[in-house]
Amino acid sequence: DLSSGRLYQKVNFPVGVAVEPEALYNLPPYSNIVQGQYNSITAETIMKPEHLHPFEGVYFWGEADSLARYCEANNKRLHGHTLIWHQQLPQWIINFEGDRAAWDALLKDHVQTIVTHFRGQVSGWDVVNEAFNDDGTMRSTVWHEHLGSSYIEKAFRYAREADPDAKLFYNDYSLALNPKKRRAVMTLLTDLRAKGVPIDGIGMQGHIFIGFPEVSEFVNTMNEIWRSGFSVHVSELDVSMNPFGREMPQASETDLNRQANVILQIFQAYRQVPSQFQYGITFWGVGDADSWIRSYFARDDYPLMFDDQYRAKPAYCKLLEHL
Ligand code: G3I
Repeated sequence: DLSSGRLYQKVNFPVGVAVEPEALYNLPPYSNIVQGQYNSITAETIMKPEHLHPFEGVYFWGEADSLARYCEANNKRLHGHTLIWHQQLPQWIINFEGDRAAWDALLKDHVQTIVTHFRGQVSGWDVVNEAFNDDGTMRSTVWHEHLGSSYIEKAFRYAREADPDAKLFYNDYSLALNPKKRRAVMTLLTDLRAKGVPIDGIGMQGHIFIGFPEVSEFVNTMNEIWRSGFSVHVSELDVSMNPFGREMPQASETDLNRQANVILQIFQAYRQVPSQFQYGITFWGVGDADSWIRSYFARDDYPLMFDDQYRAKPAYCKLLEHL
């Protein structure tokens, strides 16, 4: 029964969820869950570069402003996702022609216009998203092509200038699963920080699965992040049941319980993170039917805490019972 408990009141750190405005404003069971269970919000798509900055010199604030108003009215923290990414980039940036100075100016304008616009409304930003390949090399993106790896430190410095109060994050996936990538990310960010680049925290996305080698790998990574002096955000948690895309018309009792245990273990471990390093745990979607996993991988899956009818699954019940 969803009316009897509020997940975010069970823990002393923010519990977030990624949302799509259409469902948030028009689908009562969805909005009730967001309203009642989470106290932090990330836009799943509408604050990405393509949405906020569709044409050169043109910024589209409407949808994100509405979301910021929703957050203010409902007492939710708004987390900004994301300023610099290789996906969801507007075509005009991909096609932009200019020398290094022109690209630098473009990066600065993009970062600072957006961060300034949301100053006081956004508590933290995923400044750079997914800059590394799985083998630990840097991903070749338009930013990297035109500015070299310096685009990362530039983005953080520009963001800090525009909003000294927002927490600035580097966000990536497979940090726990892939030690090579984790080492590369930790090394770069630690070096940059030592040079005075304003990086406050690291987002571990947390797209994992019930057979995830060991939850302890995930927990070790969380601990490595805060012990290195960065805040840790479990920024995009979902726990897939069907990574190999088998036929799975429904979730089995066993899998639902395994999923519940994985999520509970992550929450219990996150609780032990010293509070100055806790930015929170954010789920990447509300109900299973909303999850990017189904559409992206075109497979049956049940990765979230609420089912297709927005009924609470064992994961939610377990958190409420044991936290
Ligand atoms: O809204 C349009 C709709 O009007 C159109 O008819 C439809 C046809 O394709 O597309 C809809 O937009 C889609 C949007 O999600 C909203 O559903 C985009 O095509 C689709 O590319 C977009 O996917 C998002 C993806 O990032 C790319 O932005 C996923 O929802 C979102 O969950 C996913 O999130 C990423 C994080 O930002 C970064 N980490 C990995 C994570 C999963 O890929």
